[in-house]
Amino acid sequence: MVNKILLVGPPGSGKGTQGVRLSEILGLEHVAIGDLLRAEISSGSELGETIKAKVAAGELVDDDLILGLIETRVEEAAEKGYILDGFPRSVDQAQKGRKLAEPVGARPELVIYFDVPDDIVVDRLTARAEIEGRADDNEETIRHRLALFHETTKPLLEFYEKQGKARMIDATAPVDEVTEKILELMRG
Ligand code: AP5
Repeated sequence: MVNKILLVGPPGSGKGTQGVRLSEILGLEHVAIGDLLRAEISSGSELGETIKAKVAAGELVDDDLILGLIETRVEEAAEKGYILDGFPRSVDQAQKGRKLAEPVGARPELVIYFDVPDDIVVDRLTARAEIEGRADDNEETIRHRLALFHETTKPLLEFYEKQGKARMIDATAPVDEVTEKILELMRG
């Protein structure tokens, strides 16, 4: 079974939900870039202050900062495997990540692409806003995050298809079914 996977998909497609579940089932570390950024913001650090506005506006945080988060984890990830959620978000980030991962044998083996229509995303995230109150879960910002996804992140599907690593899943299916599908793909 492969043990180095990327979860790629629009906001609200279920990456975080599945990352947590797969991590519990498989004992692999779930590295969620958005969670790491929100933890930094909550800590009140200077770094947190610099990224706060970008995350709240649904903009991408600078590549150098994101690569810094990846860099410190790459050797352990090569050894133990990983479920990486929220990186890369652009072909450019993927190419930069490859330079870090390749020398230590940490490149992803499988890329799960979560397919879900925009309207379902908007419904899910406006519902989540009432429960969790995330700063970026208002309709205007959700639409902006979606537009950014289509323009910048979606090209990763073709990028990883060319490498034979991408698998698209129907992320509108019930949570259990999505988990089972990913496990099936991981088993190969
Ligand atoms: P991040 O936290 O990664 O946000 P996101 O990609 O917009 O994704 P979400 O967390 O909103 O959704 P999800 O796909 O994880 O779905 P979830 O499981 O939560 O990033 C936040 C910000 O950080 C970015 O906007 C950017 O500013 C910055 N950032 C992050 N990575 C970066 C990078 N690499 N470079 C630069 N900047 C970066 O589910 C959503 C809801 O749907 C939940 O309520 C859930 O219960 C429900 N749900 C899940 N699955 C199902 C299902 N199958 N059926 C019905 N409901 C479901």
